[in-house]
Amino acid sequence: MAYAGKLGVTVIPELDLPGHMLAAMASYPWLGCTGGPYDVWTKWGVSDQVLCVGKESTFEFLFNVLDELCELFPSEYIHIGGDECPKKEWANCPVCQAKIAELGLKDGDGATKEQRLQNYVTKRVQDYLEAKGRKIIGWDEILEGDLAEGATVMSWRGTKGGIQAAGMGFDVIMSPTDYCYLDYKQGENDRESFVGAGYARSKFYDAENLYNYEPLDGFDAGATSHITGVQANMWTEYIRNDKELHYMLLPRLQALSEVQWCEPAGKDYGRFT
Ligand code: ACM
Ligand code: ZN
Repeated sequence: MAYAGKLGVTVIPELDLPGHMLAAMASYPWLGCTGGPYDVWTKWGVSDQVLCVGKESTFEFLFNVLDELCELFPSEYIHIGGDECPKKEWANCPVCQAKIAELGLKDGDGATKEQRLQNYVTKRVQDYLEAKGRKIIGWDEILEGDLAEGATVMSWRGTKGGIQAAGMGFDVIMSPTDYCYLDYKQGENDRESFVGAGYARSKFYDAENLYNYEPLDGFDAGATSHITGVQANMWTEYIRNDKELHYMLLPRLQALSEVQWCEPAGKDYGRFT
């Protein structure tokens, strides 16, 4: 962290919650609604098994992990995930349902009571981190239901989440899949095996596609000041070694730099190549 700091780089950790938590749940089965046993997720996709957020012991765990993260990472921002959290287990869990009743959460106005239960989780974690002088970033799912002031929204399911969030006064980081996901293949002949199954197979998003992404597009002029930056994601489920990792990162990461730092009029893909 100190070395990164010397280079002017701030590393922001992500603790993805309350979904994508199976590794923790495999070690501490009491974190889940059913009590497990749970297996570490070893394939592509999203598990229905998520943290049981009706229990105080889950928050105690999260706050302990966040304490350790904050010690390790001096960044002003901590990413708390929030994406891809199926609500199936919460709907069937007496403890989560009791918490919903206690909080008086209801379905309506475009959100279910289980989505509102996630808002409660986001807000508790946000309050905890703000008391430590930190700010939260979350994937655009955190916008579903009600989101408290002060959160930064990372738009990944296209650009609409970012545009909506900025219109509501939230800061945003743009990371739309169709441009910024470096786990998609970048050459038509890339081996399927290392970019994985599912959607990654049928498409490729090359450096030119990313280079031509213009983050300001679609935003009202008054809202563009809420765009704090752009992020690309290199998820490594199907990356087997450093060589493959570097192949996937470059030159797309360099293209991202120009997206981030060049005025639109200063961009020229010919000059870039
Ligand atoms: C994400 O790719 N699930 C944020
Ligand atoms: Zn539960």
